[in-house]
Amino acid sequence: MLQIQQLEKTYKNAAEPSLQGLSLQFSDKSIAGLLGPNGAGKTTTISILCGLVKADAGKAFLLGMDVEKEREAIKRRIGVVPQSIALYPTLTAMENLQYIGRLYGLGSTLLKERINQYLQLFGLEKSAHKAIRYYSGGMKRRANIIASLLHEPELLILDEPTAGVDVQSRNMILQFLTEYNKLGHGIIYTSHLLEEAQQLCDEIAIIDHGRLVVQGKPVELMQEQQAQSLEQVFLQLTGSSLRD
Ligand SMILES: Nc1ncnc2c1ncn2[C@@H]1O[C@H](COP(=O)(O)OP(=O)(O)O)[C@@H](O)[C@H]1O
Ligand SMILES: [Mg+2]
Repeated sequence: MLQIQQLEKTYKNAAEPSLQGLSLQFSDKSIAGLLGPNGAGKTTTISILCGLVKADAGKAFLLGMDVEKEREAIKRRIGVVPQSIALYPTLTAMENLQYIGRLYGLGSTLLKERINQYLQLFGLEKSAHKAIRYYSGGMKRRANIIASLLHEPELLILDEPTAGVDVQSRNMILQFLTEYNKLGHGIIYTSHLLEEAQQLCDEIAIIDHGRLVVQGKPVELMQEQQAQSLEQVFLQLTGSSLRD
């Protein structure tokens, strides 16, 4: 569902490259983690996948489609949940979701059905008519996920969906990802929390300084490295110097 070949990116005026020949792949319909410490290049990679940032070199494919050349087809088949909240703060959740659903061309009956279904699933039905700016951090993040789900994409990409949310929201979000994956949809999610990914993911790729450190199935990687956890795998492969 994802193939990345030798991606390179240096932002304008940046001293260091953000991606330096990053290559990795994830199998179809898996629940996959793109992991690494702050500044590793996760958001840059996701931004290239969703067409917000142009790579200096290299290729990337989602569901076999070239991310630069097949944007329209990709847009219909994937959903992207950005790291920052992409909802209008002065509109209610209902208004935001109706607006977004119409952008995807969903008919009004289906759209209403899906909005209600997901508001309920994410525990937001009672706050449907409250403006987003009055939502807590966890509520905003759950609403943000619904916004990319309305067209029920076969591949869902989420950038740090569990960062900075309360324990209950986080638990709910992780459970949702497992369920959505069981329905036959692919998931790619980024996190700097290796322990969380170890429990959630079928496959992971750890990146650091814009390069792949290691990829594979969590259990196999731990066996190969004779480590008890992914965190230990990461520390063994990259050293424990502090990152800023
Ligand atoms: N718009 C930008 N301009 C300049 N440098 C950037 C920009 N966005 C990210 N970077 C730098 O690129 C590197 C990778 O950042 P990012 O992809 O956000 O990492 P991550 O999501 O893994 O924390 C960091 O060193 C960051 O400071
Ligand atoms: Mg990031």
